[in-house]
Amino acid sequence: MCGIIGYTGNLDARQIIINGLLTLEYRGYDSAGIAFFSNGTSDVVTIKTTGKVNNLAEKLKKNNADSTPVCGIGHTRWATHGGVSETNSHPHSCGNVTLIHNGIIENYHELANMLSEKGIFPVSQTDSEIAAMLINYYYEGDACKAIRKAINMLEGSYAFCIIFSDKPGVIYSIRKNSPLIGAICDEGAFVASDVVAVIDYTKEYFILPEDHIAILTADSFKIYDLHGKEVIPDVMRVNWDIAAAKKGGYEHFMLKEIHEQPEAITKTISPRIIGGLPDFSNDNVPDELFKGISNIVITACGTAMHAGMFGRTMIERYSRIPVSVEIASEFRYSDPILSEKTLVIAISQSGETADTLAAVRLAKSCGARTLSVVNVKGSIIANESDYVLYTHAGPEISVASTKAYVVQLSLMYLIAYRIAMINNKLSCEEAKDKVNGIITAVNNMKKVLKMDEELYLITNKLAKAEDIFYLGRGLDYAIACEGSLKLKEISYIHAEAYAAGELKHGTISLITDNVPVIAFATQEHIYQKVISNVVEVRSRGAYVILVTSAGKHVDTTLCDHHIVLPRMDEEFTPFCTAVILQYLAYYTAVRRNLNVDQPRNLAKSVTVE
Ligand code: AGP
Repeated sequence: MCGIIGYTGNLDARQIIINGLLTLEYRGYDSAGIAFFSNGTSDVVTIKTTGKVNNLAEKLKKNNADSTPVCGIGHTRWATHGGVSETNSHPHSCGNVTLIHNGIIENYHELANMLSEKGIFPVSQTDSEIAAMLINYYYEGDACKAIRKAINMLEGSYAFCIIFSDKPGVIYSIRKNSPLIGAICDEGAFVASDVVAVIDYTKEYFILPEDHIAILTADSFKIYDLHGKEVIPDVMRVNWDIAAAKKGGYEHFMLKEIHEQPEAITKTISPRIIGGLPDFSNDNVPDELFKGISNIVITACGTAMHAGMFGRTMIERYSRIPVSVEIASEFRYSDPILSEKTLVIAISQSGETADTLAAVRLAKSCGARTLSVVNVKGSIIANESDYVLYTHAGPEISVASTKAYVVQLSLMYLIAYRIAMINNKLSCEEAKDKVNGIITAVNNMKKVLKMDEELYLITNKLAKAEDIFYLGRGLDYAIACEGSLKLKEISYIHAEAYAAGELKHGTISLITDNVPVIAFATQEHIYQKVISNVVEVRSRGAYVILVTSAGKHVDTTLCDHHIVLPRMDEEFTPFCTAVILQYLAYYTAVRRNLNVDQPRNLAKSVTVE
């Protein structure tokens, strides 16, 4: 959600902050703002605007600073408390204090009432401004003291960058349940909500520990715990190339990320294949984690949850351990039945999703074992789980998840096979075959990536539709769910996914002439069943796009388009069907001239409930 960058050093802070905010655009936002010390004095200039960062850059040009500002903070806001307006945009100021905030101050009403009794009133409707007012209220010249007193009173989540008008060149930062990374290099010190904002300057960064105060000056980055003791953070190094965070000649990040999928899967699975077998010893995930399990709960949101649905089928198929998939936002309030014999697997690209994080915490508090599958290194969910398996998709910039999804699928295969092996349900020989199956599937995926023209042509019809239905059974149902989500989020066309057999229990009433139905029929044991469901919709006039494996003889009157996958083991078709659903969503959105990478109302990482 909100993007944060703070910089103090020897370069033009305005330029660095605008560039940083542009790289953070992918997180999703509706307004932007910047504050900087105008000329090394206590004069803090704040400029805000609704809309895009480019609007802010334009507005900034009109500001004639006396000299080059070298310290400032910038923010992209995704509105939660208070509508989209310049007043509600960050930075917020009160007295000496100017700050930007990501997160939610849950008790802001209470705090606002307390401050109003002292004659201090906000000008915006935001919870963030209350934090600025509170820090300023406690400020008597000692910034750390004021910050500590204020955060003691805050409930909720926060990542703050704070400047004090009488402390030019210095930035203070603190976080809780919201991400912030820090970095220092020859050009100065940085703090940001994501490492992509600083990658042009340095590849080394660290995660700011929770509830520690960071103090940034042009040549130092100090971190103190709440007792004032200095803490040295672990320095991490970005393990992907800078080019990974750029479009690299593609029209959209989404298209680039679709094409990066085979490589992302290979990077994710290779370190976990030892002697041809799935093995997590390099991740320090012990086999004991998978022994004596009574049940498994997979929890996640959105696309990650669809990867979890796929994981359930795979784990149950091979280990016969009951698995449930729980939407994290439901699970956290569901009073779940968990024990030390329950393994809770949390899946998250960002590792920041508030609901998934809450689900992990709940699982731990109930004594369950927790394993997370996360893409962003050092993220909160990764840190808080007992064990973590990182996916190696590299940075995913497009809001619509593509490569992060398929690498989650790839780990679901390996987890399923490993659990089955450890529980003596799969022999080493069988597991080796399965692992080879994944490797072959990656090659097939490359073939499907070349079907872009065929899929582009099909979207001519889809782009004009008002409703689209996705059908599938078993593994294909999980794929259908992802297909419908992908289409909705970037093309704004209403879409629904149905377990194919369920359609006739109500929803088939919506199938009339020319309503597009995309049916996945790649699983042999239920192939005929899906075809029967296709016949049902076809006879009601549906415009059918049918996806099957190679070698199937399909009655041409059954569908308008027949998409044929390469010949392959049906267990691994999801890598290929994923590409198909992604292309269909992508080209439909492109035909509708929409902002593919930053769809309306959406944020890349959902750090609020
Ligand atoms: C994916 O296309 C979506 N933008 C969204 O559903 C996403 O998968 C979900 O918000 C979960 O995010 P996470 O993987 O970062 O936890």
